[in-house]
Amino acid sequence: MVPDGAVLVANGKQALSLVAQELRERGVRTVLAPDHYCLTMIQPFQLEGLRVRHLPTDALALLDAEVLRHAIADDAHQAVLHCEVYGARAGERLLSALTEARAHGVPVVVDATHSLLAAAHDPGDYLVASLRKLLPVPDGGFALGVGHPALPERAAADEAATQLALTALELGRKPGRSPASVAEYLDAMGAAEEAMLDLLRPVAMSGIALQWLRQLDVQAWRQSRRAHAAQLIAWLIASGHTVLNADTAECGVVVRVRDAPAAEQALLEAGVICPISWPRPEGLPQEAPWRSDLVTLPVDRFPLPSVVTEMKGYLTATVVDSLFVPMRDQVGSGAAQNRWYSGR
Ligand SMILES: Cc1ncc(COP(=O)(O)O)c(C=O)c1O
Repeated sequence: MVPDGAVLVANGKQALSLVAQELRERGVRTVLAPDHYCLTMIQPFQLEGLRVRHLPTDALALLDAEVLRHAIADDAHQAVLHCEVYGARAGERLLSALTEARAHGVPVVVDATHSLLAAAHDPGDYLVASLRKLLPVPDGGFALGVGHPALPERAAADEAATQLALTALELGRKPGRSPASVAEYLDAMGAAEEAMLDLLRPVAMSGIALQWLRQLDVQAWRQSRRAHAAQLIAWLIASGHTVLNADTAECGVVVRVRDAPAAEQALLEAGVICPISWPRPEGLPQEAPWRSDLVTLPVDRFPLPSVVTEMKGYLTATVVDSLFVPMRDQVGSGAAQNRWYSGR
């Protein structure tokens, strides 16, 4: 899962920072990135003084192959950030656009944060991932393709963030999902995320995270997430809902909704914490498009056999029917048109 030769750091942003530094040194000035993103993916490039140009994405939120092909031709001093978002891999057209980019000397950075548990990744010049999103480790990320820089010593702030994440992980393991326990868990997670947000200077992954990573039975972890996802998907599809990432749902099951922020809030009130939530960035120009039709459902929060049973309980008919867009209401989303729509 962590490829040989990769540099281990404390989070995904730091892995992207190492890549951004190298891109700048290579003369790259602009990064072509998807228009569906989280700021933490983008910020490391901006901090290195690189311009980020967002390109339209397709139904799966992957870069649009044709637009990318045209954008590559604009300027040689560019790089591409291709995120395997929600575990999705590039289709044939995007793969060939990415190959074309590399053939033109435009480096491709593959972000495998959501596809970390997949057996393989799309080809690129750099591979990066945050380890702490899909694995039960308090910190961690890796970058492959960069040189091996001498990383500075971990500072007190790095250790503090790790400690906060350990507390959150501990709470997350507790069974039960009373409103009070959800609130406590959310507070702990919020504090850990807040602390991690500022840690942009690449440092080594903590000793404890490394130890946990080495002890983790990755195969069993992957299997349990897949099994939870499969049960959840079967139920969603039987209820007439649309699942976008049925084949890659180890990162969370992606469903289409009418209004993602409202659905996330309703789910939260029902005790379900959406694992990947990309709200519209503040300050994004009004005319800029932003997807607000995707919500992720967790497949791991309580790694207990009862997890899906619990989830079904929380996804009450009221929550689902008022907020989720049933398959039949979606224009042009039949299975024949898009294999990711695996509904009836
Ligand atoms: C696709 C992707 N890349 C990178 C990151 C940054 O990872 P970290 O939060 O560990 O810095 C995230 C964080 O959510 C992400 O979703």
